[in-house]
Amino acid sequence: GVLLLCCIFVVLGASNVLAADKKTYIVGIDGDYYPYSFIGQDGKPAGFDVESIQWIAKEMGFEVKVQPMAWDGIIPALLAKKIDMVYSGMTASPERREVVAFSKVYWIINQAVCVRNNTDTNMGNLFDGKHTIGTQRGCTAAMWLEDYVVKTGIIPSQNLKLYDNFPLAAKDLENGRIDAAMMDDVIVAKAVEGKDMKIIGTISTGEEYAVAMRKEDKELHDLINEGLDRLMTSPMWNELKLKYKMF
Ligand code: ARG
Repeated sequence: GVLLLCCIFVVLGASNVLAADKKTYIVGIDGDYYPYSFIGQDGKPAGFDVESIQWIAKEMGFEVKVQPMAWDGIIPALLAKKIDMVYSGMTASPERREVVAFSKVYWIINQAVCVRNNTDTNMGNLFDGKHTIGTQRGCTAAMWLEDYVVKTGIIPSQNLKLYDNFPLAAKDLENGRIDAAMMDDVIVAKAVEGKDMKIIGTISTGEEYAVAMRKEDKELHDLINEGLDRLMTSPMWNELKLKYKMF
């Protein structure tokens, strides 16, 4: 009896130590980026990327705290150590690779352009200088458009409208305040669903989604890459794609 009690004590004691030893990483997300990262009905972070990191953390033996924040300041927050990674549909662009490290690639996207159904705006007249286009501040679509606005002068700068998140741009489009909106294809496809809006074209940017981390956090790079390998070869990967209808 005493021996058994001792055993139970040792087992419980050891598992407590292990639990206390688990490291907690803070994961920065955009809370308005359905279906990758958003705030669910219950007020908790949810989405394809959020469930991915929660699965990886469990699999690899660490804890995560998911922190919604402004997309525009998310890399500065990572560099300032307010968060430990960005897992929220972030493109591993060459510009960003200069300041942060990226995990292996887990998704590929292109840009899509949407308009209201009752419009003659099309890919041919979109950049004639008479149409306004909106997107999210600090995203690759904004960088792509800014190249056209600033560098080539094709679009007058007043025709480009930047928003803190994509739902705000979609709302302005719906209400007729802008003529078109541009964003990563999966997000646009979800945004027009059930609305009086349609996709008029895509721009093949072939962007690679990956997890951003500080360059020096080598231990975390290994954990995330190994975790992504395991996730993408587990049944959970297809379950997540089905759950968020990403096919
Ligand atoms: N993939 C684009 C980028 O990296 C758009 C991402 C926007 N992601 C987000 N969570 N708001 O800029």
